[in-house]
Amino acid sequence: MLLSHAEDCIARCRALALHTEEPGFTTRWFLAASMHDVHRDLSAWMRSCGMTTRVDGVGNLRARYPARDVGAPVLFIGSHLDTVPRAGAFDGILGVVIGVKLVELLGGRRLPFAIEVAGFSEEEGVRFGFPFIGSRALIDELDPTLLMKRDQDGVSVAEAIRAFGLDEVMQGEEQAHAYLEFHIEQGPVLESLGLPLGLVVAIAGQTRARVMFEGRAGHAGTTPMAARRDALACAAEWIGEVERYATDTIGMVATVGRMEVLPGAPNVVPSVAKLTLDLRHEQDSIRECGVGHLLTRAGTIAARRGIQVNSEMVSDQAAVRMDSRLTEMLRVAVEHAGHTVHRMASGAGHDAMIMARKMPTAMLFLRSPGGLSHHPDESVLAQDVAAALAVGVEFLVLYT
Ligand code: HGY
Ligand code: MN
Ligand code: MN
Repeated sequence: MLLSHAEDCIARCRALALHTEEPGFTTRWFLAASMHDVHRDLSAWMRSCGMTTRVDGVGNLRARYPARDVGAPVLFIGSHLDTVPRAGAFDGILGVVIGVKLVELLGGRRLPFAIEVAGFSEEEGVRFGFPFIGSRALIDELDPTLLMKRDQDGVSVAEAIRAFGLDEVMQGEEQAHAYLEFHIEQGPVLESLGLPLGLVVAIAGQTRARVMFEGRAGHAGTTPMAARRDALACAAEWIGEVERYATDTIGMVATVGRMEVLPGAPNVVPSVAKLTLDLRHEQDSIRECGVGHLLTRAGTIAARRGIQVNSEMVSDQAAVRMDSRLTEMLRVAVEHAGHTVHRMASGAGHDAMIMARKMPTAMLFLRSPGGLSHHPDESVLAQDVAAALAVGVEFLVLYT
């Protein structure tokens, strides 16, 4: 019975993936025009199962399924609607679609608590380099100075909010009592174990920083190698150091995911290299030490080459443990649904790490075939979505 609902969830995700800023790929950043299309389609499904919908002051899609009694607590089920460039069809949005499906499966039955399905407007941090705008705003922890941050077109967060047609002053959510997130694992663990589901016990901390190397432009044909102050060659040496250090540090991952080189002509020695650093580890002390070490190494390498370097911390996210009582409830729901309980940490960041600051939070992973994510071929198995729905149904019984 649930398999057909699972296939419906997958079909909905694939339909929503067509709403994009880059035809032929799924690319949907914070408050992109295509987000209106996602809101339209999701809201229709939400309203058809008795939910009232609204878009809040930072573009989160919020759908409320009322409780049996007024003033009852609210269980949030959600994830994010934005994507990385050229993403797959399931990262984030599957958690929202599963939330809607769980309400549909209630068939109009009211529970002692309300359910709010939240589609967060911004988790990836692609447009403004800063992640979790949607969930931070929902828990009233959005730093007002963030509104002045500008994207690569010079548009500020505040201007983007107005351009999307939003003028509601964002209020933090007072009624939220707990948060549950369903999400693809985005890694190889569950597939290697032959398991459909994983019980997330903690989410690794992550640091995002910007590093800029400034040398001196010169003629590629006449500038002797010994006289060069080549910003790109300097960056390349540092990137190798980032990879070596993370590879040699158990449990650490570090990525230079974006680089801008100026002036960017084949026959000019590069004068500027601007890079991003994303470094993660389950233990905050090791992560912080790693960031410090690599920024120090950037300075040493640059000094030897006569290059200037400066760096900026963009975001710093401590590791987060999931709520033990809610996770125990989720564990029992996995058992009642007849599946193996596998406890695991998440290397990927999720809105759950923000929501956990304000309310008990639990998270369930679904297997990622090939361990693939942040890639157009990202996928999910219908039987695993059916397993997640079965756990969700059990969880709603237990949460009562
Ligand atoms: O980067 C992450 O971990 C997530 O996909 N935002
Ligand atoms: Mn992602
Ligand atoms: Mn995600």
